Amino acid sequence: MRSRIHILATGGTIAGETDPASGGTRYTAGVRSVDALLAAVPALSDVADISAEQILALDSKDITPADWLVIRAAAIHSLADPAIDGIVILHGTDTMEETAWFLHLSLPAGKAVVLTGAMRPADHAQPDGPANLLAAVRLAAGNAAQDTGVLVVMNETAHAARWLVKARSSGLDAFESCRPWRDARPDGRFSDLTISALPRVNLLPGYAGAPAELIDACVAAGARGLVLALTGHGSIPAAWLPALRRAKQAGVAILRASRCAGPVVRNTNADDDAEGWLSAGDLPPAKARIALMLALAAGWPDDALRTRLPGL
Ligand code: SIN
Repeated sequence: MRSRIHILATGGTIAGETDPASGGTRYTAGVRSVDALLAAVPALSDVADISAEQILALDSKDITPADWLVIRAAAIHSLADPAIDGIVILHGTDTMEETAWFLHLSLPAGKAVVLTGAMRPADHAQPDGPANLLAAVRLAAGNAAQDTGVLVVMNETAHAARWLVKARSSGLDAFESCRPWRDARPDGRFSDLTISALPRVNLLPGYAGAPAELIDACVAAGARGLVLALTGHGSIPAAWLPALRRAKQAGVAILRASRCAGPVVRNTNADDDAEGWLSAGDLPPAKARIALMLALAAGWPDDALRTRLPGL
Protein backbone atom coordinates (compact mmCIF):
# COMPACT_ATOMS: atom_id res chain seq x y z
CA MET A 1 0.00 0.00 0.00
CA ARG A 2 1.22 3.52 -0.79
CA SER A 3 2.34 5.65 2.15
CA ARG A 4 1.07 9.14 2.81
CA ILE A 5 3.76 11.56 3.91
CA HIS A 6 2.89 14.99 5.26
CA ILE A 7 5.43 17.80 4.76
CA LEU A 8 5.78 20.60 7.30
CA ALA A 9 7.77 23.53 5.91
CA THR A 10 9.54 25.96 8.25
CA GLY A 11 11.81 27.89 5.84
CA GLY A 12 15.59 27.55 5.58
CA THR A 13 17.97 27.64 2.64
CA ILE A 14 15.97 24.89 0.96
CA ALA A 15 13.36 27.63 0.45
CA GLY A 16 15.97 30.36 -0.09
CA GLU A 17 16.31 32.72 -3.03
CA THR A 18 19.21 34.88 -4.11
CA ASP A 19 18.98 38.50 -3.10
CA PRO A 20 19.20 40.38 -6.45
CA ALA A 21 20.69 43.45 -4.77
CA SER A 22 23.68 41.40 -3.59
CA GLY A 23 24.98 40.59 -7.08
CA GLY A 24 24.51 36.89 -6.33
CA THR A 25 26.62 36.78 -3.15
CA ARG A 26 23.74 36.61 -0.65
CA TYR A 27 20.40 34.94 -0.38
CA THR A 28 17.38 35.07 1.89
CA ALA A 29 16.25 31.83 3.54
CA GLY A 30 12.62 30.82 3.84
CA VAL A 31 11.23 32.72 0.84
CA ARG A 32 9.86 30.02 -1.48
CA SER A 33 6.56 28.35 -0.56
CA VAL A 34 6.28 24.66 0.16
CA ASP A 35 4.03 24.27 -2.88
CA ALA A 36 6.78 25.69 -5.12
CA LEU A 37 9.34 23.34 -3.52
CA LEU A 38 7.13 20.32 -4.11
CA ALA A 39 6.46 21.33 -7.71
CA ALA A 40 10.23 21.16 -8.36
CA VAL A 41 10.31 17.44 -7.42
CA PRO A 42 7.71 15.62 -9.52
CA ALA A 43 9.27 12.23 -8.61
CA LEU A 44 7.82 12.61 -5.10
CA SER A 45 4.50 11.32 -6.34
CA ASP A 46 6.20 8.06 -7.44
CA VAL A 47 7.26 7.48 -3.83
CA ALA A 48 4.22 8.42 -1.73
CA ASP A 49 1.02 10.43 -1.56
CA ILE A 50 2.10 13.87 -0.42
CA SER A 51 0.31 16.59 1.51
CA ALA A 52 1.96 19.73 2.85
CA GLU A 53 1.58 22.81 4.97
CA GLN A 54 3.67 25.91 5.53
CA ILE A 55 3.92 26.35 9.29
CA LEU A 56 6.82 28.85 9.48
CA ALA A 57 9.03 30.68 6.98
CA LEU A 58 12.22 31.38 8.90
CA ASP A 59 15.96 31.36 8.60
CA SER A 60 16.71 28.77 11.27
CA LYS A 61 19.14 31.09 13.09
CA ASP A 62 15.95 32.93 14.08
CA ILE A 63 14.04 29.89 15.30
CA THR A 64 13.22 30.17 18.99
CA PRO A 65 11.99 27.69 21.62
CA ALA A 66 8.50 29.12 20.98
CA ASP A 67 8.89 28.05 17.33
CA TRP A 68 9.91 24.54 18.46
CA LEU A 69 6.55 24.35 20.19
CA VAL A 70 4.78 25.42 16.98
CA ILE A 71 6.63 22.72 15.03
CA ARG A 72 5.93 20.14 17.74
CA ALA A 73 2.21 20.97 17.81
CA ALA A 74 1.94 20.65 14.03
CA ALA A 75 3.88 17.38 14.11
CA ILE A 76 1.73 15.93 16.91
CA HIS A 77 -1.40 16.89 14.99
CA SER A 78 -0.12 15.23 11.79
CA LEU A 79 1.16 12.10 13.52
CA ALA A 80 -2.21 11.60 15.21
CA ASP A 81 -3.92 11.42 11.80
CA PRO A 82 -4.34 7.72 10.96
CA ALA A 83 -4.12 8.53 7.24
CA ILE A 84 -0.57 9.93 7.64
CA ASP A 85 2.29 7.42 7.78
CA GLY A 86 5.13 9.81 8.48
CA ILE A 87 6.22 13.43 8.31
CA VAL A 88 9.07 15.30 6.67
CA ILE A 89 10.05 18.67 8.10
CA LEU A 90 11.82 21.19 5.86
CA HIS A 91 14.16 23.25 8.04
CA GLY A 92 17.19 25.49 7.84
CA THR A 93 20.43 23.66 8.45
CA ASP A 94 21.93 26.06 11.02
CA THR A 95 19.81 24.87 13.95
CA MET A 96 18.46 21.67 12.44
CA GLU A 97 20.24 19.53 15.03
CA GLU A 98 18.52 21.45 17.85
CA THR A 99 15.00 21.14 16.44
CA ALA A 100 15.60 17.48 15.55
CA TRP A 101 16.77 16.70 19.11
CA PHE A 102 13.90 18.66 20.69
CA LEU A 103 11.40 16.70 18.59
CA HIS A 104 13.19 13.40 19.26
CA LEU A 105 12.63 13.90 22.98
CA SER A 106 9.15 15.38 22.80
CA LEU A 107 7.20 13.65 19.99
CA PRO A 108 5.46 10.32 20.40
CA ALA A 109 7.60 7.47 19.09
CA GLY A 110 6.26 5.33 16.28
CA LYS A 111 5.76 7.02 12.92
CA ALA A 112 8.70 8.31 10.90
CA VAL A 113 9.83 11.91 11.44
CA VAL A 114 12.57 13.07 9.06
CA LEU A 115 14.05 16.56 8.78
CA THR A 116 15.83 17.84 5.73
CA GLY A 117 17.07 21.10 4.27
CA ALA A 118 19.67 22.36 1.85
CA MET A 119 23.05 24.01 1.78
CA ARG A 120 22.27 25.82 -1.49
CA PRO A 121 19.27 28.08 -2.08
CA ALA A 122 16.39 26.90 -4.25
CA ASP A 123 17.39 29.13 -7.18
CA HIS A 124 21.01 27.88 -7.26
CA ALA A 125 22.08 26.40 -10.63
CA GLN A 126 22.57 23.03 -8.89
CA PRO A 127 20.36 23.07 -5.80
CA ASP A 128 20.66 20.20 -3.33
CA GLY A 129 17.20 20.74 -1.85
CA PRO A 130 15.20 18.68 -4.39
CA ALA A 131 17.39 15.56 -3.93
CA ASN A 132 17.32 15.98 -0.15
CA LEU A 133 13.53 16.31 -0.16
CA LEU A 134 13.15 13.19 -2.29
CA ALA A 135 15.55 11.23 -0.06
CA ALA A 136 13.71 12.36 3.08
CA VAL A 137 10.33 11.30 1.69
CA ARG A 138 11.79 7.95 0.62
CA LEU A 139 13.18 7.38 4.11
CA ALA A 140 9.94 8.46 5.82
CA ALA A 141 7.87 6.23 3.55
CA GLY A 142 9.92 3.11 4.34
CA ASN A 143 9.83 0.93 7.44
CA ALA A 144 13.39 1.59 8.60
CA ALA A 145 12.69 5.10 9.92
CA GLN A 146 10.00 3.94 12.35
CA ASP A 147 12.22 2.40 15.03
CA THR A 148 14.83 5.12 15.24
CA GLY A 149 13.20 8.29 16.53
CA VAL A 150 13.78 11.54 14.68
CA LEU A 151 16.16 11.44 11.71
CA VAL A 152 17.78 13.97 9.41
CA VAL A 153 18.69 13.39 5.77
CA MET A 154 21.25 15.58 4.03
CA ASN A 155 23.46 14.86 1.03
CA GLU A 156 22.25 11.25 0.59
CA THR A 157 23.11 10.44 4.20
CA ALA A 158 20.75 9.77 7.09
CA HIS A 159 21.64 10.86 10.63
CA ALA A 160 20.04 10.30 14.03
CA ALA A 161 19.01 13.42 15.96
CA ARG A 162 21.09 12.26 18.93
CA TRP A 163 24.43 12.18 17.12
CA LEU A 164 24.05 14.73 14.33
CA VAL A 165 26.07 17.95 14.21
CA LYS A 166 26.44 20.60 11.57
CA ALA A 167 30.22 20.35 11.45
CA ARG A 168 30.98 22.70 8.55
CA SER A 169 29.53 26.08 7.58
CA SER A 170 29.55 25.29 3.87
CA GLY A 171 29.68 22.38 1.48
CA LEU A 172 27.08 19.72 0.77
CA ASP A 173 28.71 17.42 3.34
CA ALA A 174 28.19 19.88 6.20
CA PHE A 175 26.66 17.29 8.57
CA GLU A 176 28.39 14.58 10.56
CA SER A 177 27.37 11.94 13.08
CA CYS A 178 29.56 10.04 15.50
CA ARG A 179 27.35 6.94 15.20
CA PRO A 180 25.25 5.38 12.42
CA TRP A 181 21.55 6.30 12.36
CA ARG A 182 20.52 2.67 12.44
CA ASP A 183 21.85 2.43 16.03
CA ALA A 184 19.31 5.05 17.15
CA ARG A 185 16.22 4.15 19.16
CA PRO A 186 12.98 6.08 19.54
CA ASP A 187 12.72 8.27 22.62
CA GLY A 188 9.74 10.60 23.14
CA ARG A 189 10.12 10.63 26.92
CA PHE A 190 8.57 14.11 27.04
CA SER A 191 5.81 13.35 24.54
CA ASP A 192 3.04 13.54 27.16
CA LEU A 193 4.18 16.93 28.38
CA THR A 194 1.81 19.86 27.87
CA ILE A 195 4.12 22.82 27.36
CA SER A 196 2.95 26.37 26.74
CA ALA A 197 6.43 27.88 27.17
CA LEU A 198 9.85 26.37 27.79
CA PRO A 199 11.90 27.63 30.74
CA ARG A 200 14.77 29.94 29.91
CA VAL A 201 18.09 28.08 29.90
CA ASN A 202 21.17 29.98 28.79
CA LEU A 203 24.36 28.61 27.31
CA LEU A 204 27.64 30.14 28.45
CA PRO A 205 30.96 29.28 26.80
CA GLY A 206 34.15 28.77 28.75
CA TYR A 207 37.24 30.35 27.18
CA ALA A 208 40.39 32.14 28.24
CA GLY A 209 39.28 35.11 30.31
CA ALA A 210 35.54 34.33 30.12
CA PRO A 211 33.83 36.87 32.39
CA ALA A 212 31.74 35.76 35.38
CA GLU A 213 29.38 38.74 35.03
CA LEU A 214 27.41 36.93 32.31
CA ILE A 215 26.32 34.36 34.90
CA ASP A 216 24.71 37.04 37.09
CA ALA A 217 23.21 38.68 33.99
CA CYS A 218 21.53 35.41 32.92
CA VAL A 219 20.10 34.90 36.41
CA ALA A 220 18.85 38.51 36.50
CA ALA A 221 17.19 37.93 33.11
CA GLY A 222 15.23 34.99 34.50
CA ALA A 223 17.29 31.91 33.58
CA ARG A 224 16.13 28.74 35.33
CA GLY A 225 19.15 26.86 34.07
CA LEU A 226 22.68 27.51 32.82
CA VAL A 227 24.52 25.12 30.54
CA LEU A 228 28.24 25.76 30.65
CA ALA A 229 30.08 24.85 27.44
CA LEU A 230 33.38 24.46 29.26
CA THR A 231 36.91 23.71 28.21
CA GLY A 232 38.32 20.17 28.21
CA HIS A 233 36.45 17.73 30.39
CA GLY A 234 34.20 20.43 31.79
CA SER A 235 36.52 22.53 33.91
CA ILE A 236 34.96 25.44 35.80
CA PRO A 237 37.07 28.64 35.72
CA ALA A 238 37.97 29.56 39.31
CA ALA A 239 36.75 33.12 38.66
CA TRP A 240 33.23 31.77 37.98
CA LEU A 241 32.79 30.04 41.34
CA PRO A 242 31.23 32.89 43.37
CA ALA A 243 28.70 33.73 40.62
CA LEU A 244 27.84 30.05 40.09
CA ARG A 245 27.25 29.63 43.82
CA ARG A 246 24.97 32.70 43.81
CA ALA A 247 23.07 31.26 40.85
CA LYS A 248 22.68 27.87 42.54
CA GLN A 249 21.51 29.61 45.70
CA ALA A 250 18.87 31.37 43.60
CA GLY A 251 17.57 27.97 42.43
CA VAL A 252 19.18 27.95 38.98
CA ALA A 253 20.22 24.53 37.63
CA ILE A 254 23.90 24.52 36.63
CA LEU A 255 24.94 21.91 34.07
CA ARG A 256 28.55 21.25 33.08
CA ALA A 257 29.10 20.35 29.41
CA SER A 258 32.21 20.53 27.23
CA ARG A 259 33.02 22.45 24.10
CA CYS A 260 35.06 19.37 23.11
CA ALA A 261 33.53 16.13 21.89
CA GLY A 262 33.48 13.57 24.65
CA PRO A 263 32.01 13.04 28.05
CA VAL A 264 31.81 15.31 31.07
CA VAL A 265 31.80 12.81 33.91
CA ARG A 266 30.10 13.57 37.19
CA ASN A 267 32.47 14.50 40.05
CA THR A 268 35.46 14.20 37.74
CA ASN A 269 37.50 17.39 37.84
CA ALA A 270 34.67 19.24 39.62
CA ASP A 271 32.81 18.92 42.93
CA ASP A 272 29.40 18.25 41.40
CA ASP A 273 27.96 16.63 44.52
CA ALA A 274 29.22 19.34 46.88
CA GLU A 275 28.18 22.22 44.59
CA GLY A 276 24.89 20.70 43.37
CA TRP A 277 25.95 20.85 39.73
CA LEU A 278 24.72 18.60 36.91
CA SER A 279 26.85 17.01 34.21
CA ALA A 280 26.12 16.47 30.52
CA GLY A 281 27.72 13.08 29.91
CA ASP A 282 28.39 13.05 26.17
CA LEU A 283 25.56 15.40 25.23
CA PRO A 284 26.96 18.44 23.42
CA PRO A 285 26.08 21.78 25.05
CA ALA A 286 23.23 22.79 22.71
CA LYS A 287 21.54 19.41 23.11
CA ALA A 288 22.16 19.33 26.86
CA ARG A 289 20.40 22.70 27.02
CA ILE A 290 17.32 21.30 25.28
CA ALA A 291 17.25 18.24 27.55
CA LEU A 292 17.49 20.51 30.60
CA MET A 293 14.71 22.79 29.31
CA LEU A 294 12.40 19.82 28.85
CA ALA A 295 13.37 18.25 32.18
CA LEU A 296 12.73 21.53 34.01
CA ALA A 297 9.40 21.93 32.17
CA ALA A 298 8.50 18.41 33.28
CA GLY A 299 9.43 19.23 36.88
CA TRP A 300 12.12 16.56 37.20
CA PRO A 301 13.41 16.52 40.79
CA ASP A 302 17.10 17.12 41.50
CA ASP A 303 18.01 13.45 41.72
CA ALA A 304 16.45 12.77 38.28
CA LEU A 305 18.34 15.74 36.80
CA ARG A 306 21.54 14.36 38.33
CA THR A 307 21.16 10.77 37.20
CA ARG A 308 18.98 10.80 34.08
CA LEU A 309 20.19 13.79 32.07
CA PRO A 310 23.69 12.44 31.32
CA GLY A 311 22.18 9.21 30.01
CA LEU A 312 19.98 10.83 27.37
C1 SIN B 1 19.03 28.40 7.81
O1 SIN B 1 19.51 27.68 8.68
O2 SIN B 1 17.82 28.67 7.74
C2 SIN B 1 19.93 29.03 6.80
C3 SIN B 1 21.07 28.16 6.46
C4 SIN B 1 20.66 26.86 5.84
O3 SIN B 1 19.51 26.46 5.79
O4 SIN B 1 21.60 26.19 5.36
